[in-house]
Amino acid sequence: MWSGGVVELCRAEFGSGDYAACLELRRVVLREPLGLEWSEGDLALEEEEWQMGWWEEGEVLACVSVRWLGAGRVKLRQMAVRGDRQGKGLGGLLVGAVLEILGGEGVAEVELHARESVVGFYEKLGFEIVGERFEEVGLAHWAMKHQI
Ligand SMILES: CC(C)(COP(=O)(O)OP(=O)(O)OC[C@H]1O[C@@H](n2cnc3c(N)ncnc32)[C@H](O)[C@@H]1OP(=O)(O)O)[C@@H](O)C(=O)NCCC(=O)NCCS
Repeated sequence: MWSGGVVELCRAEFGSGDYAACLELRRVVLREPLGLEWSEGDLALEEEEWQMGWWEEGEVLACVSVRWLGAGRVKLRQMAVRGDRQGKGLGGLLVGAVLEILGGEGVAEVELHARESVVGFYEKLGFEIVGERFEEVGLAHWAMKHQI
């Protein structure tokens, strides 16, 4: 597991204060710019997910959710890096570290829905586009997959 200086990778327990901090980061980075709030349905399945994040002195800097699909497959969701820390390598390190952990858990295939604006970010991490462009939360998206 990677730990750069005081930045640590942790899993936030569903319903905990750390989970609430991740939810707020996701709301600010992913929802607010689109004028969206959480709906009940958005969070309904999260109890079964892993909420992973980079933490520095008690504050979450970046996070991503892991949804378990069964048969060695997972979906990464809700990838968000705090605005003042974007473009500094944290997002790539988070996905890389999470993929390493998932590989150790027997996961063989990771999928996600990438906003069109960040397809290049995931390609650098080994993901490939599968299928056609589609719309989600009003934005163009591509389904992507990565074998680990
Ligand atoms: C997209 C996001 C998760 C990337 O995390 P980050 O910490 O900013 O990215 P990193 O600095 O780790 O970048 C890793 C590499 O990907 C590249 N990259 C980052 N964002 C990119 C983008 N939008 N398009 C293409 N390449 C990108 C970087 O240049 C870097 O390349 P390098 O290794 O050659 O230097 C982050 O910027 C973010 O939260 N954005 C807003 C929310 C969002 O769009 N989330 C994704 C929803 S699918």
